Amino acid sequence: MQAHTRPVIIEMHGIGKVFHAGSIECQVLTDVHLAVRQGEFVSIAGPSGCGKSTLLSLMGLLDMPSHGEFRFRGESTEALGRAERARIRNRHIGFVFQAFNLIDDLSVADNVALPLSFRKDMPTRDRARRVVEALGSVGMAHRMRHYPAQLSGGQQQRVAVARALAGDPSILLADEPTGNLDLHNGETVMTLLSSLHVAGRTICMVTHDDRFSSMADRTIRLLDGRVVDESSYRQSQSEAESGLDERRHSASFP
Ligand SMILES: Nc1ncnc2c1ncn2[C@@H]1O[C@H](COP(=O)(O)OP(=O)(O)O)[C@@H](O)[C@H]1O
Ligand SMILES: [Mg+2]
Repeated sequence: MQAHTRPVIIEMHGIGKVFHAGSIECQVLTDVHLAVRQGEFVSIAGPSGCGKSTLLSLMGLLDMPSHGEFRFRGESTEALGRAERARIRNRHIGFVFQAFNLIDDLSVADNVALPLSFRKDMPTRDRARRVVEALGSVGMAHRMRHYPAQLSGGQQQRVAVARALAGDPSILLADEPTGNLDLHNGETVMTLLSSLHVAGRTICMVTHDDRFSSMADRTIRLLDGRVVDESSYRQSQSEAESGLDERRHSASFP
């Protein structure tokens, strides 16, 4: 199937997100329009605090937008209740976080099996098979009986990817998956995500590392909660850098 005719998994029209802290309103996302099609590998980039994690949590139905329309797999999400959102997350969305978020008291195999235990549509024997397959797909099947603390950071993140994949989700959402890893382990996890993409997975990944965002098919750039095009993004980067130069300059020549 041609890439541009594949089904749209994530579709946002005029999405806004406002947080309230007492009487203070904070507009974190403004008028976001975007779409992610099946099989795409999209990165979301932008400076710290620009709204990347907020956007990913809306995509993952962890939070609801304040404005606009969000369609997931072609269906409006507006009227979904908490339980329905949880069911869609469990069935269709795999999450990978910067801090791995594995449960220390559970073995690697039990960590990966945990989300499957909420899947009433899946026979128990299928769950065990899925766990082995998911761990195999990230090269961690030989560590099934280990506990998270016995693994390196890179290995823990690979287990977290296996946990995200075990339920065969429609999309994998990863928020700075290399953020807690050294360069070598970061590259290993990125190579893994790339190979999952080549195998057909739909992936949306937040990163502020340009080396890693360039591994995606395309990059959505966020600035102050708005999606911007490449040239405005570059311009704001160079303005920020020249501002820094001026500050350095005035610091050395008061
Ligand atoms: N639950 C929340 N309540 C209030 N403000 C929030 C909340 N979550 C995020 N924010 C604010 O929204 C802005 C964007 O945050 P975030 O999406 O985490 O940015 P990024 O991931 O790009 O660093 C920040 O100013 C942050 O303080
Ligand atoms: Mg973030």
